[in-house]
Amino acid sequence: MTQTQPRTAQELLDLLTLEEQVSLLAGADFWRTVPIPRLNIPQLKVSDGPAGVRGGGALVGGKHTAAFPVGIALGSTWNVDLLHEVGEHLAREAREKGAAVLLAPTVNLFRSTLNGRNFESYSEDPFLTGKLGSAYILGLQKNGVAATVKHFVGNESEYQRNTISSDIPERALRELYLVPFEMAVKEGKTLAIMSAYNKLNGTFSSENKRLLTDILRTEWGFDGLVMSDWFGAHTAGKSVLAGLDLEMPGPARARANLLEEAQNDPEIRQAVREAALNVLKLLERTGVLENPLDVLDANEQENEYPDTRALIRRAGAESIVLLKNEQSILPLARAAKVAVIGPNGATAQVMGGGSAQMSAHRKVSPLQGLQEALGESQVLYHIGCDNDRFLPVYTGDLHIQYRALDTQETLATEVRSGGEIMWFGLPEGVPWGFEATVSTTLKVAEDGVYDLSLTSAGLTKLLLNGEQRIDNWDSFKIGDSYFGSGSNEVRTQVHLTAGAHPIQIEYRPLFSESGIQMCAMRFGFRKPLPESSIQEAANVAAQADFAVVCVGSNGEWETEGVDRWGLVLPGRQDELVQAVAKANPNTIVLLQTGGPILMPWLSEVKAVLQAWFPGQEAGHAIADVLLGDADPSGRLPQTFPQSLSDDPTHPETPDLQYPGENGHVEYQEGLYIGYRHVDQHQLTPLFPFGYGLSYTQFEITSAQAADTLNPDEELQVQVTVQNTGDRPGQTVVQLYVQDLQSTLERPLKELKAFQKVALEPGQSSTLTLILNMRSFAYYSDTQSAWVAERGDFLLHLGQSSQDLPVSLKVNLTADWTLSTQP
Ligand code: BGC
Repeated sequence: MTQTQPRTAQELLDLLTLEEQVSLLAGADFWRTVPIPRLNIPQLKVSDGPAGVRGGGALVGGKHTAAFPVGIALGSTWNVDLLHEVGEHLAREAREKGAAVLLAPTVNLFRSTLNGRNFESYSEDPFLTGKLGSAYILGLQKNGVAATVKHFVGNESEYQRNTISSDIPERALRELYLVPFEMAVKEGKTLAIMSAYNKLNGTFSSENKRLLTDILRTEWGFDGLVMSDWFGAHTAGKSVLAGLDLEMPGPARARANLLEEAQNDPEIRQAVREAALNVLKLLERTGVLENPLDVLDANEQENEYPDTRALIRRAGAESIVLLKNEQSILPLARAAKVAVIGPNGATAQVMGGGSAQMSAHRKVSPLQGLQEALGESQVLYHIGCDNDRFLPVYTGDLHIQYRALDTQETLATEVRSGGEIMWFGLPEGVPWGFEATVSTTLKVAEDGVYDLSLTSAGLTKLLLNGEQRIDNWDSFKIGDSYFGSGSNEVRTQVHLTAGAHPIQIEYRPLFSESGIQMCAMRFGFRKPLPESSIQEAANVAAQADFAVVCVGSNGEWETEGVDRWGLVLPGRQDELVQAVAKANPNTIVLLQTGGPILMPWLSEVKAVLQAWFPGQEAGHAIADVLLGDADPSGRLPQTFPQSLSDDPTHPETPDLQYPGENGHVEYQEGLYIGYRHVDQHQLTPLFPFGYGLSYTQFEITSAQAADTLNPDEELQVQVTVQNTGDRPGQTVVQLYVQDLQSTLERPLKELKAFQKVALEPGQSSTLTLILNMRSFAYYSDTQSAWVAERGDFLLHLGQSSQDLPVSLKVNLTADWTLSTQP
């Protein structure tokens, strides 16, 4: 058979031996499936995901690629068309990296504000998440790359994520957490889905038949591929029977004995056949079966496209949320002198951490963005304080000498640039049972005190000038780094004279029961800032017309494998904002975080912009908004609470509800997360869901809909909105449904439609928002059905969850029920 001969997945399946079928059900390596050369079945390459396409290289330092705004930033845009466009561009990026499958989007919901991957998902609201996720998927798949919507389901925090059971009451599961996945399947037509690491109500998601077969395939009609999260498959035949098609990564680990199990059990044999068909269908649907991509990592392309850059800049600007703008201090006057202050001023924070990281083509900082827009002489700068979780990574070269663990014979040497090494592969001839000496020479310009640190997955110790200064070997303990396989950072302070100082780091991998663990190490180095640094920054701020204080977090704090540290800005940043606000009455805070934060200085500053991690063009997007070239049209996709105790999961008292105990995390708050929790407990958030200011103003001038509705009909709501200000801008019209009489207790209101609209000054536009029966329904766990009860509903319309000036009443004339039973 030649490669060009048309063949369908079904035809190929019939040609496969059982052994070949089994071989398709686990990866060949980290990112590729197993090829079958006998039948010209090529490899399929997958790649993370979601804010860019990293390719097959390392998390850091791999091939360059376009870095898009992170999930919460895209969530803030509320712009379905924009998400579609982002998906389209990502498809080109993926194919250029040889990947026909992108491991994205992430559609888990914001439950606790402390979720480590908060930055990666879109929203606390399932409908907003589902709409945005579906648009992203449609854009991606339109251009021939399969989406892998993840993590199915209940991965709302990182604490013990590989083993914990998310115990989710049925109604909350149905009305919240499953919804974005259901929409991704039904509206987005996703071709693939990734099971979560965690258990759902006691059973691993990757072998949860109710989830992967009964709900996903039987009820929702999904006929694509289900893959495990990385190392998240635990059984062979059992997981295939449950509906998990592909174990990732490979080679097979949980499925090492699958062939034998299939030979001995006809039921498993049949399930293997169906799963193999799903793998073949994915090859077919992505076009790879007929036109294989070059899946070699070495051949990945690094093209940078001007239209993608422009899209990232526009999307970044559109994601920025203007939280406060006293006396319309923003946009800034162009002739002004601006002081950029703070740790996120000269360092561009463009992405979160973990598997969502990539090697961005560029990282434009706010300082660079403003310098380019205003001219360098107009912009002053001072760092003020730092906000690192780890010391900055050493930037020199590291010389690695690999030795055999037993004989200590030197096996290979290698030079890597930068002070962090993640070993995803080793030089030829070096086995995973190795030991290494990593050396470099510190060149110090002036005498003084310096900070040194080691963080590692594996044992490490550091010798300075031949003397041991850091022990992370004998005292090694698993901490919060490297997806939960690494230590905490171990720091020390030393006095160094100007000149060269040899550094030697000893490294040895750790072994676990299941084999080798992650191998990585990071050498941190810096000259600490003096105590007076904040005052010096305030003095610089005082010399400018405006001070833009760039504070927040970064991908070290907001990352996979560990939850967020809290809601207080790390380090001395709150103090910095306060000192600058005192020195300059025109202080604007530019926040960059992956989730909510507390703002003790809110009343002391004139303006606050939340810019998240907006991708590689960060500084340009930020300058566009600060200077008014773009309207800040982001709206919060997540409630910002006044305090940690207002979080729906009350993390200030760690327990079963959060982060979990004895292997379980109970979603005790049920339906009440985000604004549903705010309404239920009549809280006053710091900033509500859906909120965001613009440089202009909008008014909803009229709204109309039929006042009765029969079951199975759609309701069209016509809303007229006007730009009543004097600048062009965009707003988001939001529609929340309230059930006035209900048998079951329901959230006070729920978002069921929204639309973003761009309007010139004075311009009006009439939008049509469409509601269907599901917009009115709750899930009845006793009837296993969606139920919209007859009676009156209120439709609340406005521009945030707490600014809903217009309401319409509609009467549903009879009950509507949709069973979820087969
Ligand atoms: C993450 C996934 C990711 C996978 C591959 C896992 O740690 O949970 O989201 O796609 O790694 O990098």
